[in-house]
Amino acid sequence: MFKNLLEAIGNTPLVKINFDSPAQIFAKLEYLNPGGSVKDRSALFMIEEAERTGKLKPGGTIVDASSGNHGIAVAMIGRVKNYRVIITVSEKISQEKLQTIQAYGAEVVMCPPTDFIEDPRGYHSQALKIHQNIPNSFMPNQYFNVTNAIAHEKLLGPEIWKQTEGKITHFFAGAGTCGTISGVGRFLKSQNPKIKIIALDSINSWRATKGNPKPYKVEGMGMDFETPVYDKKSVDEIITISDDNALYMLKNLASNYGFLVGPSSGAVAFAAEQYAKKLTKNDLAVMIFGDSGRAYLTKGFYTEEKTDKVLKKEKKENVTHL
Ligand SMILES: Cc1ncc(COP(=O)(O)O)c(C=O)c1O
Repeated sequence: MFKNLLEAIGNTPLVKINFDSPAQIFAKLEYLNPGGSVKDRSALFMIEEAERTGKLKPGGTIVDASSGNHGIAVAMIGRVKNYRVIITVSEKISQEKLQTIQAYGAEVVMCPPTDFIEDPRGYHSQALKIHQNIPNSFMPNQYFNVTNAIAHEKLLGPEIWKQTEGKITHFFAGAGTCGTISGVGRFLKSQNPKIKIIALDSINSWRATKGNPKPYKVEGMGMDFETPVYDKKSVDEIITISDDNALYMLKNLASNYGFLVGPSSGAVAFAAEQYAKKLTKNDLAVMIFGDSGRAYLTKGFYTEEKTDKVLKKEKKENVTHL
């Protein structure tokens, strides 16, 4: 029994998935958090730290930029804690995520998608501007605030360690702000430095294209800027994934395994499934399923025919170990 909704964040199930591998592969169902994603944890942690340090006071406003899930988490937490919330988003956002933020009563500012985070028209710059203009406002600043990774180091990492009874050997997560991969990676390596931490990036991201990003469909995931949130020492490998392979796996997970997840989980599972073929029976891998497919139904990913055909040609070539 919980005294309020925010206490129900975390303690998500770890569920075995029967990929063709001698190893045991588990999915951490982060989409079962009350706000529907892994971002509930980091948003709550950043907001409560701001309350503790006096950066956020009663009656205050929370402003941040988000690809959707962080905004949903902040909007939900803002409602429970009675803060005004303003979220800047990019036009790339799914209708479901946009309407979810609005359903919680948050204000949304729509910004054009930009190739670079510093672009003054983009959602991050716009959030900074709004924050500077509103007295008694707090900006969690998920893209550049190292507290984002500390949240996952203190909450998600220990939870996975406990649930696997310390037997985890490989960890896979999508990298956007890099909070999840860096925080969980840091904690797991502090327990056992041999654990391999594997980040998933989009093949079209700023990092993967060496500064010449191209548009991609997977939301939330993709290393598109330099950030102190990214703890390089805690990550062993970065694997790049194409939209087609992420979207193929997203359909496969729903129709063959019963997991209705979002595109970043498709990317993570695609990489983990390929990787797991090389693992042994002594290995135990955990992958993060960051959000639910329900947030993307109107994008038509689940009904597109194209992804099946493309996969047959692309399946192996597109997984690049850097
Ligand atoms: C569904 C989903 N997966 C993965 C990520 C990436 O997580 P992080 O920002 O901690 O790197 C995000 C971030 O918004 C996300 O929404």
